[in-house]
Amino acid sequence: MVKKYNLKGPKIVVEPPGPKAKKALARKEKYVTNGIRIGLPTALDVAEGPFMRDVDGNVFLDFTVGIGVHNCGHRAPEFVKACQDQLDKFVHICVMVTPYEPYLELAEEMAKICPGKMTKSIFLNSGSEAIENAVKIARSYNKKKWILSYKTSFHGRTFLDISLTGKEKPYRDGFGPLVPYIQHLDYAYCYRCPLKLEYPSCNFACVDSIRTVMETKPMEGDVCALVAEPIQGEGGFINPPPGYWEKVRKVCDDNGVVLIDDEVQTGFGRTGKMWGIEHWKCDPDMLVSGKGLSLGMPLGGVTGKEDIMASPPPASLGGTFGGNPVCCAGALASIKLTKKAMPNTKMINKVEKKRLMEWKEQYEWVGDVRGLGAMLGMEFVKTKASKEAVPEFTRNVQLNCFKHGLYILTAGQFNNVIRLHPPLIIKQDLLEKGLDIIEAAMVEEAKKAGFS
Ligand SMILES: Cc1ncc(COP(=O)(O)O)c(C=O)c1O
Repeated sequence: MVKKYNLKGPKIVVEPPGPKAKKALARKEKYVTNGIRIGLPTALDVAEGPFMRDVDGNVFLDFTVGIGVHNCGHRAPEFVKACQDQLDKFVHICVMVTPYEPYLELAEEMAKICPGKMTKSIFLNSGSEAIENAVKIARSYNKKKWILSYKTSFHGRTFLDISLTGKEKPYRDGFGPLVPYIQHLDYAYCYRCPLKLEYPSCNFACVDSIRTVMETKPMEGDVCALVAEPIQGEGGFINPPPGYWEKVRKVCDDNGVVLIDDEVQTGFGRTGKMWGIEHWKCDPDMLVSGKGLSLGMPLGGVTGKEDIMASPPPASLGGTFGGNPVCCAGALASIKLTKKAMPNTKMINKVEKKRLMEWKEQYEWVGDVRGLGAMLGMEFVKTKASKEAVPEFTRNVQLNCFKHGLYILTAGQFNNVIRLHPPLIIKQDLLEKGLDIIEAAMVEEAKKAGFS
C-alpha cells in the first residue's frame, strides 16, 4: 500500500518558517555542520506528486524536485511500490559478494536506453561517486594523464569532482590542494561568450581552442578524457548551440580522448529526450547518470562502451552499497515512469518558453532565457545593456516565491539564474500557477530594488 495524502496547493497557512519549522532550523544550527547551507528555510513533513507539506502545514508547489531528482513527482506510487517490494525480498548483499536481479536488469536496461554503443554499467551511490568512477575507468583504459572539464561546470562534491568543477566559491575555495592534471576549458556560454564573439559568426572558435589545448604541449597526446555536461545545470542552464557537441566529438576522436557525458542533471527526460546529449548527433564514450535515475533513492551510474568498461581489472572497482537492490528496483520503475512522462515536456516547454520570452521582452532585468525541454531558466541582470549580474535580486525572487508557496532554485556562475525543474508530470494549470507566482515575485522585488 502506498500512503496517500491528497495534498492540494500551493497553500500558505502560516508565513514560513512557521513555529515548528523555526524549532527545526534551530536544531540544524546546533547539530549540523555549517558547511550545509539551507536554501529554503522550513522543514518538510510529507511530499506527494508536485507538492510538499512542511511541518507547519504549508503546502508548496515544487519546481526544484529535490534538485532535479523527482522528475515523475514525489513518491510516484509505482516507484514506491517497486522499492517496497524489494524491501520485502532483501535489502543488501553487495554486488561484489553476489549479483542480484535488479542490478542486472538495470544494467541491461541502461544498455538499451543509452545512446550509441554503450553496453556495460556500474552503479554507485551518487552522481559524485559515478563521476569518480568514470574518470578512473577512462584512466585505466588509455593510461593518459590529463582530464579536461569546463569553467562553468559542476560535477559533484568529492575531491576529484570539485577539481573538475569550474566554480570556485563555494565548491573549491579553501579545500585545496586539489587533484592535479585537470584543466578547465571555456564552455559555449554564448550569452557571455568568453571569446567575446557571437554565434554563428564565431564559427565555433571555442571548439578550435579546445583542439589547441589538446594538441599543444604539455597536453599533446596525453589527454585522457573530457568530462562535460551536455547542458550545464548549476552553471546556469547553459545549452550550447546546434552543432557544438558534434564538433567537440570530432576533436576528441582526433586526439583519442574519452568523452564522458555527465547526464546527472540533464538525464532522465529532463530535456524532453532521455539524455541531454541526444539533442546533438554525438555519441559519448561513457555516460554518467544520477538524480532522476532512481527518483530519490541514492544511485549513480556509469555506462560505457564495451572496450572501455572492460579495462579496469577485477576487484578494482566497487563499494559496499553501490547499486543497492532497493535503489536499482526504484530505477527500473523510474525508467518506465520517465518514458511515460516525457511527452509532457512538450507542453512544459511551450508554456514556459512563451512566458519567459514575454518576460524577456517586457522586463529589463530578464537578460537571457535558455535551456531545452523542461530544463529552462532565465538570467537576471541590472540592465540588458550592462548584463551586470544581480545575485541579491535573484535570491530575493526565490525567497518571495517561497513565501507564496513555490519552491524554485537559483544557479549560475554569478548566482543570478532562476532555473525551473517542474516535475515532468505537472498539469498545465499548475505550471501556470507557478509561473504567476514567479512573475509577481519578480515585479515586487524589482520595485523594491529600484529596477526600471
Ligand atoms: C551535472 C552534475 N554532475 C554531478 C553531480 C553530483 O551528483 P550528486 O549530488 O548525486 O553527487 C551533480 C549534482 O548536482 C550534477 O548536477
